[in-house]
Amino acid sequence: MYKRLFPSIRNYTTSKSTVDPNEIEHFRHVADEWWNKNGRLRGLHTFNNVRIPFIQNRLIKIGVLRPHERITTSSQDFSILDVGCGGGILTEGLSRLGYNVTGLDPNSELIDVAKFHVKDENLPQLQYECSTIEEFGVTNSEKYNVVVSSETIEHVTEKEEFLKSSIQCLKPGGSLFITTINKTWLGRFSAIDLWENVFKCVPKGTHEYDKFIGLNDLIEMLSKEKCTTIFTSGLFYNPYLNKWYSTKNKYFSYALHAIKVC
Ligand SMILES: C[S@@+](CC[C@H](N)C(=O)[O-])C[C@H]1O[C@@H](n2cnc3c(N)ncnc32)[C@H](O)[C@@H]1O
Repeated sequence: MYKRLFPSIRNYTTSKSTVDPNEIEHFRHVADEWWNKNGRLRGLHTFNNVRIPFIQNRLIKIGVLRPHERITTSSQDFSILDVGCGGGILTEGLSRLGYNVTGLDPNSELIDVAKFHVKDENLPQLQYECSTIEEFGVTNSEKYNVVVSSETIEHVTEKEEFLKSSIQCLKPGGSLFITTINKTWLGRFSAIDLWENVFKCVPKGTHEYDKFIGLNDLIEMLSKEKCTTIFTSGLFYNPYLNKWYSTKNKYFSYALHAIKVC
């Protein structure tokens, strides 16, 4: 009955699934607002101003991209996987810079929103897949130069499995980028009290403190999967100005760059 009413909810209740069906149901309710830049997801839109340069600058820093490739089309064999892409705000932003990007999300309604947003455009470098990362990883092992997962791990159950499958998709030596809210009282205060309850710039009930992950715990989980963290930065979102900042303070939110050991 439940699945008939909510067709976007598949059977994600198997023991190793990283998907919490409540999350699928929660994001269904905001699917229609995904591309409203002044709506309740406005923070994800302005986040591109900070997270895309973060990814590009780090790839330039480690010599994977040359500075002049920052904006022009990258070579055909350079590909990015965006895990938990939602309606495609980051995925599309990256593809518009010329990169080959695949956006992956288990929520079929969000994948439909992402596809619909580019339906009249010719963007052959942009693809979307509706799947869990654990299913996708099996057939896409060591395929991507870069795996990105932004504002997603805080919605995932079985975080080790999620990281393991994401890393499985990376080529040896490839880069993993993660952004998330820190599991600190400042992380909870900003994301739940300020964003959700005071400024209402995030739908109420989006975040659960227990599902947040601390920076050191994430670094440790990654090292167990043979992924070495080489850089971290703090992130701060000012909901009043709808503006993101890279900061030294990592207690609110953070961005991480790790490399899969060869
Ligand atoms: C806050 S949205 C972020 C969307 C996108 N990454 C962005 O920043 O614009 C969180 C996304 O995580 C996805 N998600 C939840 N659990 C997931 C899982 N286990 N694996 C992959 N994605 C998941 C949701 O469907 C949703 O699209």
